[in-house]
Order: sequence, then structure tokens, then C-alpha cells
Amino acid sequence: MNPLELSKAVGAVTDEDLRKAAEAAQAAQRATVLVRELAAHHRSRLQKHFLALGEEDRLLRFGQSVGNHVIEAYVDSIDFDHDSVFGVYDEKLELVGVGHFANLRDNAQGRVAEFGVSVSKSARGRGIGSALFERAAIHGRNTSVRTLYMHCLSRNSAMMHIAKKAGMKVQYAYGEADAYLELPPADTMSRLTEALDEQVADLDYLVRRNLRDARRFGLRFWRSMVPQKGTA
Ligand SMILES: CC(C)(COP(=O)(O)OP(=O)(O)OC[C@H]1O[C@@H](n2cnc3c(N)ncnc32)[C@H](O)[C@@H]1OP(=O)(O)O)[C@@H](O)C(=O)NCCC(=O)NCCS
Repeated sequence: MNPLELSKAVGAVTDEDLRKAAEAAQAAQRATVLVRELAAHHRSRLQKHFLALGEEDRLLRFGQSVGNHVIEAYVDSIDFDHDSVFGVYDEKLELVGVGHFANLRDNAQGRVAEFGVSVSKSARGRGIGSALFERAAIHGRNTSVRTLYMHCLSRNSAMMHIAKKAGMKVQYAYGEADAYLELPPADTMSRLTEALDEQVADLDYLVRRNLRDARRFGLRFWRSMVPQKGTA
């Protein structure tokens, strides 16, 4: 009997306690999703992320079946001066979530931006999609965007859930859905929040990358100290 089974057997923990603990752990994990703004030199990582999406995910993300060459052309065409691209890295520093915030033409109400997001299959359900969406919304506020827009297939239940949770108005037509979020104007808090989020995510990435490099260097060093066959 393992310690958990023993605790349950003697009544020290109940299934309800375990459920609450699992919920708390999930909430803590979600709270620590760090989103970084990406730049043109991240194109190869972006390509890797999108090319790893399966057929169905490509359909959900791009609204149509797209082959590798279309994805490559899409990544090459991203204008990082005009749009913003946000990313989330996993513990191995692989890009597992990408949000593309594209500035569109202004409408009668003001500036409009479109948001598209994808999360690698292995990293779903951890709050990454929601964190990317929240970052896009706050970035929109801070860049005077009035309407954040998303186009999805209406059967995309996970995305519809995120959109509705964020208070987006959704219009359905012919199996597709257009979701709109009216953004309030920027304020000190929104500017501070985005700046702090970016700094924490940058710092976290740099620390983790340096640790990884130091570990690799240490491994190489120790290996070089071990005499190779035939050199002793
Ligand atoms: C949509 C997508 C980005 C979500 O990413 P994610 O990191 O798993 O999202 P999160 O973990 O932040 O949240 C998902 C939410 O949807 C809910 N959800 C997941 N699957 C669901 C489903 N089939 N039906 C309803 N809700 C669902 C989760 O419970 C969670 O809700 P909660 O935050 O209230 O707990 C991801 O599934 C994806 O990349 N899909 C393929 C591409 C795509 O559809 N892009 C959107 C087109 S713009």
C-alpha cells in the first residue's frame, strides 16, 4: 500500500481533499504561465511549432487545411514591426504556444486587431491558450486597439470556451464563428502589468537558458576528463 492509499484507508484524506488539491495545483500552474514577445529571429522556432501541428489543428488554427509550404510562407511573411507575436516555452525551452496579434485596418469604432493562437498538443489544458489570449487583450489595450477579433470554426469548443470566458461577443454563420472583444482604454495598471509580465518572462527564459547551457558545458567538461578507450 502506498502512502496515499494508506492515508485514504485511515481517513486522513478524502477524495474531495484530493480533488481540491489537484484543482489548487492546476490553478498554481496556470498562474505561472509566462508569455514572451517574440521577434524576427524566432522564425525557425515558430516554423517548428506550426509544422508540428496535426491536420485537424492546422484546420482549426488557419481555418483551412494547410500544407507545410503554406506554413513556411506564413511564418516568413509575419511582419514583426507591424504585428506582435507572443510565445510560451516549456521546461525544455521548446515553443509550445504561439499567439499572433495582427493589426488590421481601423473600423468606425477605432483600431482593430485579429488574434490567432495555437498550443502544442502535449501542452494543452495548462492555461497556455488563455494566458496568450489575456496577453493579447492587454497588449491591445496598451496599443489603443478598441476591438480584438478572432475567427474560428464554431465546432472549436476549447477556443469558444476561452472566447466566452473572456466576455467576447460571438456571431455564428455557416459553421464559422466571429468573436469580438471591446477593449477598455489603457491605464497605468494595464501598462505596468504588460511591462512586468514581459520582464519576468524574459528573465525566466534567460535564467533557464543559462542553466541549460551551464549543464551542457559541465557534462562536456566531465566527459572530456574521462579517458577515452585507447587513450589511456
Ligand atoms: C484552442 C487552444 C489554443 C487552447 O489551448 P489550451 O492551452 O489548451 O487552453 P487553456 O488550457 O488555456 O484553456 C482551455 C479551456 O478550454 C476548456 N476546454 C478544453 N477543451 C474543451 C472542449 N472540448 N470543450 C469545451 N471546453 C474545453 C478547458 O477546460 C479550459 O477551460 P478553463 O480555463 O475554464 O479551465 C488549443 O486547443 C489549440 O491550439 N487548438 C488548435 C488550434 C486552434 O484551435 N486555435 C484557435 C483558432 S484561433
